[in-house]
Amino acid sequence: MDKNKTSYSHFFPKHSFHPCFYSYIWTNQNGGIMKHVIIAGGAGFIGSHLCEYLLHKGDRVICLDNFRTGHPKNVSALTNHPYFKLVEHDITMPYMIKGIDEIYNLACPASPIHYQDSPIETTKTSVIGTLNLLELARENHCRFLQASTSEVYGDPEVHPQPESYWGHVNPNGIRSCYDVGKRCAESLCMDYHRRYGVAVKIIRIFNTYGPRMACDDGRVVSNFILQALQGKDLTIYGNGMQTRSFQYVDDLIQGMERIMSTPDSFTGPVNLGNPEEHTILEFAERILELTGSRSRMVFRPLPADDPKRRNPDITLARQALDWHPRISLREGLQQTIAYYRNLLAESPSQNISRP
Ligand SMILES: NC(=O)c1ccc[n+]([C@@H]2O[C@H](COP(=O)([O-])OP(=O)(O)OC[C@H]3O[C@@H](n4cnc5c(N)ncnc54)[C@H](O)[C@@H]3O)[C@@H](O)[C@H]2O)c1
Repeated sequence: MDKNKTSYSHFFPKHSFHPCFYSYIWTNQNGGIMKHVIIAGGAGFIGSHLCEYLLHKGDRVICLDNFRTGHPKNVSALTNHPYFKLVEHDITMPYMIKGIDEIYNLACPASPIHYQDSPIETTKTSVIGTLNLLELARENHCRFLQASTSEVYGDPEVHPQPESYWGHVNPNGIRSCYDVGKRCAESLCMDYHRRYGVAVKIIRIFNTYGPRMACDDGRVVSNFILQALQGKDLTIYGNGMQTRSFQYVDDLIQGMERIMSTPDSFTGPVNLGNPEEHTILEFAERILELTGSRSRMVFRPLPADDPKRRNPDITLARQALDWHPRISLREGLQQTIAYYRNLLAESPSQNISRP
């Protein structure tokens, strides 16, 4: 039997009630408690990695997704797993279920090209969608993780950004549907915590990359790798001296698991990102080296509201979660490049988008 899969033979109820009292405590084959988890946005890039990780750990996972930017193929390897359920659902509509232990809210288009393509739906997803899931958490007396973002800092005037920094955000620009929507979602989380005692956990995710990022998301990692592998010019917006930090998805998943196991009183927000800063130019050179590509670099004007610098201060994550990124840029990029190579071998005409 596959040791990573939860087996029926080790799966029996104990005769004690779970705190949310609708379900018994179930154990998985690792001897741990099998939690019943909802991952909203689970068919997206980060969500699909989280589904995979929690199933391997021995949890039972319901993935809710409307497939706006995600795709069932991202979780196709999991669909036969006995404890995985994929449900097509838009979180702007309520979802009713009992016996849930944890909710991870990752549902929201994450790349500028995707959220600017449907800005009103993006705001509705962050605000109404988060509200619906918080209600579900309240009903179930369960934990709730909100995937917030470094974009709540806007175009920051403080470097690196600690959680105490309130940010520098355009309230009605073309990125506001995302930045302001996510700010409102954080505010809702904290009000559900203060008013109803919901155990909320807010993480502010910084630029994350890895296998299963959408090819057309217009982000620098996917664009550069695909351009390099297809022998096309690497498009650099601005002069390339703006900096970014790059977190590999496995590091993020570890951080998510850690914050979910903190005491109920610990809400965050906590920055999860890689503090190593790279200029875009430096990053492009690294991609050319790792892909062995002979592509050239071409320069184009910077899009509106594009932050010049963004870098997480992860002191709180180190102290409260004993967490810091462990995967080097080289290692993470090698995994990601291998993923895109396979994808191109299967279907060579992958189109990229400009940011
Ligand atoms: N990837 C990053 O670098 C990054 C950085 C900061 C924050 N985040 C946050 O992490 C989360 C996941 O990001 P990702 O990179 O995996 O993006 P993604 O677009 O790949 O995943 C988002 C998922 O949410 C789904 N979705 C969108 N609207 C929905 C709705 N109304 N109802 C149900 N499902 C819906 C999409 O179909 C998709 O599967 C997002 O909330 C994003 O804001 C990501």
